[in-house]
Amino acid sequence: MTNRISVGIAGTGSFVPARVVTNHDLEKLVDTSDEWIVQRTGIRRRHFAEEGQACSDLCFEAAQRALESADLSPEELDLVIVGTVSPDQLIPSTACFVQERLGATRAGAFDVNAACSGFLTSLHTAEAFISAGRARNALVIGAEVLSRFLDMEDRTSCIIFGDGAGAAVVRPLEECGRGEILRTSLGADGSGAEFIHMKGGGSRLPATHETLEQGHQYIRLRGREVYRFAVTKMSDLIAEMAEGYDLDDIGLVVPHQVNERIIQAAMDRLGWPMDKVFLNIAEYGNTSAATVPIALDEVVRAGRLEPGKLVILCAFGAGLTWGATLLRW
Ligand code: UT7
Repeated sequence: MTNRISVGIAGTGSFVPARVVTNHDLEKLVDTSDEWIVQRTGIRRRHFAEEGQACSDLCFEAAQRALESADLSPEELDLVIVGTVSPDQLIPSTACFVQERLGATRAGAFDVNAACSGFLTSLHTAEAFISAGRARNALVIGAEVLSRFLDMEDRTSCIIFGDGAGAAVVRPLEECGRGEILRTSLGADGSGAEFIHMKGGGSRLPATHETLEQGHQYIRLRGREVYRFAVTKMSDLIAEMAEGYDLDDIGLVVPHQVNERIIQAAMDRLGWPMDKVFLNIAEYGNTSAATVPIALDEVVRAGRLEPGKLVILCAFGAGLTWGATLLRW
């Protein structure tokens, strides 16, 4: 294709709520143990939103940091896209609350529902707008307050998730000079809808006293099935992004922080060493759409990305959905 504009990442930011919930805290609620959670997932603690703190509040903090690092003002934004499955409310979109609070007066705003793949789906959407010349400056956020949708009596799900937000400012490469998006991949398989779902509150099963009594307002998952899918999908996505390059060209893989054992098994399947992977799941748990942008922000701020090296971002989640991005830093 000709005349496409190269797109890069101009700045990143992230935010997690101050409230820390440790595995020992969860031991008091369900039949679990710190040892089991650490061994099976790598998670040691997660952050939960305070009462009254909603998804857009986390987005706002992460967005401000990303805009500051990109040296861009909110009025210069053409797009605000929020990947989330735990919005402030069903209507309007969380992106509209963020747009208003930032003062992004020229921007279009919408949410993307792709669960844990939400940030990468949003990033690819922004990249498509900018590369086609339909927008110049986009704010892309992955954010969740999943703690509101956890059944704190269901030990298979309540130990996994945490709250947080990560953001990236995406611009034409000529404006930012780094983080070039070289490849993108997105996919879905709706036959796996039952693996991770929240049944209540939509048009099929609107909230009633009965749906609340049956617990349909909570996230349910079939962890074992997701586990098997995840190992194969993560390694396939990384291989797809790395095709044609040597392992030495790859600076870092920043994967969805789904479960340390899944990430380890995916790297084993590829025959890649774990020092190619960034992990922060011990601190935050699985923050769904927020894991990749929080991790990206942390590696950028820690100076872990060498200029010129390749970075692979990858994620998968409810839907089932998946996505991956290859960046040149
Ligand atoms: O980002 C996308 C969303 N994420 C996911 O969908 C999660 C993906 N799956 C996983 O991360 C893992 O499958 C889990 C962490 C959910 C579970 O780990 P696992 O190694 O797959 O355990 P399992 O489900 O096979 O369960 C093993 C045992 C069972 O007991 P029995 O039948 O062997 O006696 C479970 O009942 O562990 C038991 N178990 C627990 N024990 C203590 C399940 N959850 C817990 C728990 N604490 N929290």
